[in-house]
Amino acid sequence: MAKDFGTMEDSNRSANPSIHEVSDPARRLWVHGGLAALAGSVLAPWLAGCASAPAGGAPLLGFKGIPPTQADGLVVPEGYVAEVLAPWGEPVGIPGQMPAWRPDASNSAAEQAVQMGMHHDGIHFYPLEGSATHGLLVMNHEYVDDGLLHPDGTKTWSADKVRKAQAAHGVSVIEVALKDGRWQMVRSSRWARRFTAFAPFAVQGPAAGHALMKTAADPDGRTVLGTLNNCASGMTPWGTYLSGEENWAFYFDGGDSIDADQKRWGLPRSGFYRWAAHDERFDARRHPNEFHRFGWVVEIDPLDPTSLPVKRTALGRAAHEGAWVGVTQDGRAVVYSGEDARFEYIYKFVSRDRIAPGGGRANRELLDHGTLYVARFDADGSGRWLPLVHGQGPLTPANGFADPGEVVIKTRQASDRLGATKMDRPEWLAIDQAAREVYCTLTNNSARGAPGMPGPDAANPRANNVMGQIIRWKEDGDFDATTFRWNHLVLAGDPANARPEAQGNIKGDLFACPDGLMLDARGVLWIQTDAHATQMYKGEFARIGSNQMLACDRTSGEIRRFLTGPVNCEITGATMTPDLRTLFINVQHPGETPSDRSDPAEPDKYSRWPSGQPGARPRSATVAIRRRDGGIVGT
Ligand code: FEO
Ligand code: CA
Ligand code: CA
Repeated sequence: MAKDFGTMEDSNRSANPSIHEVSDPARRLWVHGGLAALAGSVLAPWLAGCASAPAGGAPLLGFKGIPPTQADGLVVPEGYVAEVLAPWGEPVGIPGQMPAWRPDASNSAAEQAVQMGMHHDGIHFYPLEGSATHGLLVMNHEYVDDGLLHPDGTKTWSADKVRKAQAAHGVSVIEVALKDGRWQMVRSSRWARRFTAFAPFAVQGPAAGHALMKTAADPDGRTVLGTLNNCASGMTPWGTYLSGEENWAFYFDGGDSIDADQKRWGLPRSGFYRWAAHDERFDARRHPNEFHRFGWVVEIDPLDPTSLPVKRTALGRAAHEGAWVGVTQDGRAVVYSGEDARFEYIYKFVSRDRIAPGGGRANRELLDHGTLYVARFDADGSGRWLPLVHGQGPLTPANGFADPGEVVIKTRQASDRLGATKMDRPEWLAIDQAAREVYCTLTNNSARGAPGMPGPDAANPRANNVMGQIIRWKEDGDFDATTFRWNHLVLAGDPANARPEAQGNIKGDLFACPDGLMLDARGVLWIQTDAHATQMYKGEFARIGSNQMLACDRTSGEIRRFLTGPVNCEITGATMTPDLRTLFINVQHPGETPSDRSDPAEPDKYSRWPSGQPGARPRSATVAIRRRDGGIVGT
């Protein structure tokens, strides 16, 4: 998401000091003494054998890279075409419920609840009967711009507006097909669904029915209304969709009575979206346990239109960016996730049971039983997964963890106790199943090394980290290993930059603030960025360009720019058809204003994408990208 909520919380100032803070003067010199030293130490051991080479000797990256642009449009390489498929407000295709989008934003909350939500993010393609030209797209709608969502923006505020904002959140399932050379939504569709911030979700795992999950409206603590701030996504090997609830804390009002646990999660005095004004369950003073019912990974079975989505509490509560699944050699699921907040953590969950044949229904409880771990990255390039198990080590009733449910509800606090490594905002992960390697974007952390904050460490080596990095690790053995080796794939930024904190070691096209990641079946690692002009000096931004998508050949290390997005957008989410001939991406918040709330009197102040019409409200949208000759994307 564009808004850096890290600035809204200073809870980490009171967290236990990082055991990885750099105190060794030699290390500090190494960090600040230039990137050659870095490349020579931690990076070197892996470079020879890390990647998948393309078959037949053809170069992995075959497209002609594009220069940085700040055009208000989507730019792709020569020979490619990008077509808008599913913008905010289009009816998703629920039979009998297909209200047309109104460009003046006058659709009601009820209409919005059956239309595409706002601010598209993680996305995945689900083939129907194995097809590469017909399937479902499932995607997140992370947050809203109330300035665009209502005819007069936030000039007035009402229960109807809160309801419409809640309806524009969540997840969409749409049916799509390639017809007459163009991807189209199939409407109506028996698969089309919307999951909003008031749709029912079951709660499963250790926190289900826990005293801290019970509310007046749900005395059993087993059914939550809504999912919030759904950011990244992952597809499970059994065919379901995982979605992370990321910056959910900022929807609640804490007032003047915020306790230590709420503070650790960044509960603000007043929620950014002002929902509590008309929906009291977002007033944490009146309903403190409602706050515990968000921050989970949710699982949706898009291929079963009658299925109830589930909050999987065994995966821990966090500002989850998303969740991604690897498989052990004996068939157990290993779910990796991180939380995108400054100085927070990376997790993995190892299922107790094996994945069963039979899709989502056969695996209804797979992610409810297993072991959750948090990562520690040591300075020598090794790492350890620390078990978040009730009764082990400090995770005892005496320390505030009464039972396994309380450990997962207080995952951050438990991770603090274990001395996990405080990272530079972990965003997306990508898993190389064959090589048992995992990649994670650490988007930026300008508070690293600030007074009173953790300083640089080996995994997060730059103070005032405005550019971000991609870290990777290889498990020592199978995916369920408790130790690993790690290094950096790349430090983003300009190698020629005079500012040490903005220098990077990119080999190829420049970028900043890596966020989305996708590893395709050929072995190309696709990188999407969420860079803020405000974090860079003007000249740096001009050289790096607007938000973009790049392709990385992990063997050569080359990174090549593939796409740039419209003004003030973020490129979020990527998925491909099984034949790799269509790439779907999401363009989020084109034209976003610095305040995150557009002026409805001038909605096109920064962007008119995708319509290009004067005065048009910019719309987040799904885009289908193909080669004009029908070839494989990226070759
Ligand atoms: Fe929703 Fe961390 O981006
Ligand atoms: Ca981001
Ligand atoms: Ca993101």
